[in-house]
Amino acid sequence: MKKNIESVLTESRVFAPPPAFVAEARLKAHDLTALHQRAAADPQNFWAELARTEIAWHTPFTVTLDDRAAPNFRWFTDGELNVSYNCLDLQLAQNADQLAIIFEGEPGDVRTLTYRELHADVCRFANALKARGIRRGDRVVIYMPLVPEAVVAMQACARIGAIHSVVFGGFSALSLKERIEDAGARCVITADGGHRGGNIVELKAATDKALTEGCASVDTVYVLRRTGATVPMQLGRDLWWHEAIEGQAEVCEPEWVDAEHPLFLLYTSGSTGRPKGIQHSSAGYLLGAKLTSRWVFDLRSDDVLWCTADVGWITGHSYVAYGPLAAGATLVMYEGAPTYPDGGRFWRICGQHGVTVFYTAPTAIRALMKLGDELPAKYDLSKIRLLGSVGEPINPEAWMWYHRVIGGGRCPIVDTWWQTETGAIMISPIPGVTSTKPGSCTQPLPGIFADIVDDEGRSVTMPDAGGYLVIRKPWPSMLRTIWGDNDRYLETYWKKFQHRLYVAGDSAHRDADGCFWIMGRIDDVLNVAGHRLGTMEIESALVAHPRIAEAAVVSRQHEIKGESVFAFVVCRGARPTGDTKEFEKELRDWVAEQLGAIAKPDDIRFADNLPKTRSGKIMRRLLRAIARGETITQDVSTLENPAIIEQLRGH
Ligand code: PRX
Repeated sequence: MKKNIESVLTESRVFAPPPAFVAEARLKAHDLTALHQRAAADPQNFWAELARTEIAWHTPFTVTLDDRAAPNFRWFTDGELNVSYNCLDLQLAQNADQLAIIFEGEPGDVRTLTYRELHADVCRFANALKARGIRRGDRVVIYMPLVPEAVVAMQACARIGAIHSVVFGGFSALSLKERIEDAGARCVITADGGHRGGNIVELKAATDKALTEGCASVDTVYVLRRTGATVPMQLGRDLWWHEAIEGQAEVCEPEWVDAEHPLFLLYTSGSTGRPKGIQHSSAGYLLGAKLTSRWVFDLRSDDVLWCTADVGWITGHSYVAYGPLAAGATLVMYEGAPTYPDGGRFWRICGQHGVTVFYTAPTAIRALMKLGDELPAKYDLSKIRLLGSVGEPINPEAWMWYHRVIGGGRCPIVDTWWQTETGAIMISPIPGVTSTKPGSCTQPLPGIFADIVDDEGRSVTMPDAGGYLVIRKPWPSMLRTIWGDNDRYLETYWKKFQHRLYVAGDSAHRDADGCFWIMGRIDDVLNVAGHRLGTMEIESALVAHPRIAEAAVVSRQHEIKGESVFAFVVCRGARPTGDTKEFEKELRDWVAEQLGAIAKPDDIRFADNLPKTRSGKIMRRLLRAIARGETITQDVSTLENPAIIEQLRGH
């Protein structure tokens, strides 16, 4: 990422919003100014007014913000609502026959669902869940391919007040087991498999493995038939999706829940070996997802939004399963890999389904950019009017390519900064208003009091000086806690500045125009191809291998993935020498089995020991410099065995 930081510091191009876009934009400059002014004048009232107009309440709220247990903030506490009702039933009155979802499977199968059909499917599945006794507050793990039923399952949980926890289909059986057990889930919703890169992802087999090894809380498994593969079904526990919904009514009265009722948990990596279950609320989350869908994506009912994220990540929650539906738009969902069967797949889908707003991650943009301009040129991208980027810093080169080749120079780009914890986009251009700069997420949205501070929590006002990215005031879509571990919530996000500021875990700087530039994580979290991975999780996976005594994981820059995993390992017994390729492969496969293929180290280096400080802490900065081939500036005089540096360097 160093290269990116250097190039963004010298980046001076500014792109004003294209006049044609401005003319049609929903949010104009004066609207944005007014929103910022209202938010600054009275933040609570600002959110209260929006919550009243944007959400259909079953019981209106009278309390806007309960901060008595700060920083465990609670919003709109005495209100009652149902998120699925807000996403689906509200559309039935006016937009029942509008398409909600256009789905394309990797093999090429296409299916569409109108709002009416989606509503009926959600109700039928919600009734199927109820028929098995699944109730408000029960945890339901969803481990599915990116197919419409994944959204149906999420919405059905919301409808009956069950708390879903979606686990990305690329995670291993062991990771699934860990998440099921932490959440104490009663039920798992999976499929006989999914299509990815021409292969079948064996989700049911992984589920069976997870359940055989533990997960005593699970009594029900729903299995969607997707690939048609034969999978074993356990009598009494496993039910086929299509059989479970047979005969179920197409109406299901929504369960009215408190505003603070948990809508979902989503596990994400932190700086310990154990992922944390980020807990989101119902009303505050819905408000954030809906408003940002409208503000940032300028969504109209005739828009076709394609957010390429899987529902296993927060982006797929807020901008696939909830926000755009609440805003009444049409979604595109694509099951498979961006380069299957070739690198034109994304662009063909955009052309074929008339995508107007396209939202993806820099890693995908870089991978597709590498394949050249000819592939996108073959497809009709003329309907696209807005482009978005999320998940990691976008380097100016990729930004410019996206702008020129995919956007034809006419589309604004919204580089959106946010996190699993923030629930919704926090810092982003407003496409018809904000001038953009390649590599900057520009400015906080109305009501979001983001700042950059020094070690004492003082605002860093000098342009281009770096600091901690923090949020000064609570916002409705913020995480509420870490499931089952409120101490960790306080420790991770609030302790550093005595519970006064939310610490995002990123470093950033701000230029003379007040635009934010994200520099990267300050903790032991890696961002590999837009996926968040904890170094400790990978280290724990490595040391679980019988031949590994110790491991330290850092990242190095990667041309496409942004960062890649670099592991230094110490074996039990002698250090392997000579041709270690086979053993490296064994370790990679081991990590894939323990965590998932996304966590596989790209580089593995064997050493006799790891560099440590006198107090026994691994010198990660030193390892990072070695992995990145940088000159070593740290003091290494305390090293027990300075010769180790040459070995770590691979010499
Ligand atoms: O480091 C930031 C990076 O991704 C982290 C959040 O990861 P996750 O919770 O998995 O959510 C990703 C999708 C919202 C952040 O702490 N990040 C996210 N968006 C950007 C970004 N870094 C730079 N620019 C962005 N636009």
